[in-house]
Order: sequence, then C-alpha cells, then structure tokens
Amino acid sequence: MDNTWVEVSKSALLNNLKGLKGLLSPGTALMFVVKANGYGHGLSQVAGIAETENSPVDTYGVHLPEDGIFLRRKGITKDIYVLGYANGSQLEALIRHDLCPVVTNTELIPLLEQEASRQKKQVRITLKCETGTHRQGILPEEVPEAASLLKKAPSVTLEGLSTHFANIEDTSDHSYAQGQIHSFKEFIRKFEAFGFILRRNHIACSAATILLPETHYQMVRTGISSYGYWSSKETYLSFRSGDSRELRLEPVLAWKTRIGQIKDVGPDVSIGYGCTYKTNQPTRLAILPVGYYDGYDRKLSNSGYVLIHGKRAPIRGRVCMNMIIVDITHIPGCRLNDEAVLLGYSGEEVVTADEIAALAGTISYEVLSRINPLIPRRIVP
Ligand SMILES: Cc1ncc(COP(=O)(O)O)c(C=O)c1O
Repeated sequence: MDNTWVEVSKSALLNNLKGLKGLLSPGTALMFVVKANGYGHGLSQVAGIAETENSPVDTYGVHLPEDGIFLRRKGITKDIYVLGYANGSQLEALIRHDLCPVVTNTELIPLLEQEASRQKKQVRITLKCETGTHRQGILPEEVPEAASLLKKAPSVTLEGLSTHFANIEDTSDHSYAQGQIHSFKEFIRKFEAFGFILRRNHIACSAATILLPETHYQMVRTGISSYGYWSSKETYLSFRSGDSRELRLEPVLAWKTRIGQIKDVGPDVSIGYGCTYKTNQPTRLAILPVGYYDGYDRKLSNSGYVLIHGKRAPIRGRVCMNMIIVDITHIPGCRLNDEAVLLGYSGEEVVTADEIAALAGTISYEVLSRINPLIPRRIVP
C-alpha cells in the first residue's frame, strides 16, 4: 500500500487527445508533448496509453534525447521530436535511435551531417525559427547560412520549420501571435526560395491549436490540453465565446495520499514550523505524508486544501518538506490511512491544478510537472 500515489485516467487522456485531433483537418498530425515526465503524469504511463490501438497520436514531443530513447526502448516506432537542446555528445545516440531533433542553431548542422554519414543514416530535422519569443531558434538573417550548410549536408533532411508562441495563453488579444505567424510565413518563403520542400511545419501549442486553425500547418504540438487542462482562463473564454466547435477537456491526473496521524489540540495552539497558524477552538488535525519535496508547493502554507471524505480540509501552518497538517475538525469519522485527495475528485468535491496554481501564484503546468517523479503512477480506467 503506497502512502502517496498518482492516478492517471486512461479514458480521460484518450478522450482529450481524440477531442484535439477532432479540431484538425485530415492529414494534420497530432504531436503529444510528453516532456517533463509527461507533464508530471509519468512518461511511461502516458505514452503507454497513447500507444493503444486507434490512438489519435501521430508523433511524440520530448525535451531530452534520453526521453526519446526511453520511448524507443519501450517499442514506440512513431516519430519522436526532441524539442529541447541536443548537444554534440548526444547526437550519436539521437541518430542511432532515429529521433528527429528540432535544431535551434546552425552550428549543429555540420555535426549532424558528420554523425549521420558515419552511421550511414538520414536524419530528419526541424529548424526552429526565432519569431518573437527570443528564446530558441535561428534569426531571419541566418537563413542563407542555414540553407548553405544544409545543401552541404546530404545526410540531413530539412523536414520543416517550427516556432513557438510567446503570448498566446495570457491574453485574448492575439496581435502579438499574428506578428509571429507573419514572421514564420516569411521564414517559409525564404527557405522555399532556396529550393527546400517543407513537408512538416509546426507552430501550434495547445492554445493555438484550439483557437487559431490557421496555425495548424502539417502538425500541432499539444501538451497541457492533452492532460485535460485549458492553457489559461483566457483560452477557455476565447474558445467558448467565439466558437461553435466542441471540445471537452477532462483532467487526467489525480494525486492522493493517506492520513498518517490524527491529533486533537486545544484552542490557542500553534501549528507547524514558524508557528504561523494558531487555533481558535478545539481542533482535530490530520498529518499527511506529503510535502514540498513531493511537489506540493510551500506557497500553499495556510492557503491550500485537500479533500477528505468529500470535504475540504484546509492546510494549517506551513507545508513541510515531507508533511502537511490539515484541519479535519468538521469532517467526522476520519481514521488512520483514510485517503486524502491533493488533486482530483472526492465525492462531489474537486481540487484542480488550476485552483492550486492560483493559490500558489503559478500555472497548472508547474503544479502538474513538479509532482515528484518518484511517486508511483497508476493507470486507472
Ligand atoms: C516547443 C513547445 N511546443 C509545444 C509545447 C506544448 O505547449 P502546451 O502545453 O501549451 O500545449 C511546449 C510546452 O512548453 C513547447 O515548449
């Protein structure tokens, strides 16, 4: 019996992925972004689910070459795109496992050629273009150099171009995104003018996939929405207000722990480190064996809550490294080892990653992806 565990709903994940695929034109590929341990859900678990028969997933997106290799070792044969940085020492393994790197600088092109020709293989690459995020990607003025390096690299195939939106989740004003789309079109035009045939361009994350069909090109890259969360309130409201299309997203992950101790204290008693909470009445407390080491944000001290027997149990005092203390005075019948829900449903009540994120001053992405990978992930129907 585990003290703390994560449940990953197979049906929710597949339904979300099918819903997203339903937004695409036939022939547009769906990349399932499984970086950061599958957004905290467990890379092995989510990829296992996504590999079921008739899966809507066409390709995978990982951050690290190691994660791509892990998926290959699991027997996955679909295209796997390495979205993060692959350094020179990782190219041998990357090419040997037929991963598709997203190349963000021109220096990598000759190194890829050298290694691919040594292995007598063809490596398919996406070239990432800088359109306004000012993070990764080649600049417009680097196009001639990239084109010339690619012409001298017969073992490297430029499959397509990509970019990433800077300001699409936090706003319902998409003018900055439109500027990026415009710059991206310019990159395409320039590479085509050098004679390249771009078969798979991709720029859309979840928000763009959901809101802007013109960004779909030949592939979209969906992360957070696959896991059942809207990228932001603005994305949700923009979709609901202006769109007749249907999309239902259902959170895939539940995070649970157990009551490790029950304790009655009197009024005027300080709780936890720093004595930041003082009781004002006789109080029953439950100690739960989960803390910030496990990914439960310390900013939830005195503000977060968990669910026990379908009721909210507020956190009292500070979140510790491996423990939290919750108030169960109003929840009758609690016993040692009873389930406490950190994320997910208990009876009619629910705690979502969006709610926890709002309390901790962050976003659902961080709440989910920071759940300690050592916590067991169980697939549930
Ligand atoms: C390059 C790239 N594409 C796609 C995604 C997926 O974004 P989202 O989770 O908003 O769908 C990410 C996530 O950060 C990313 O870095």
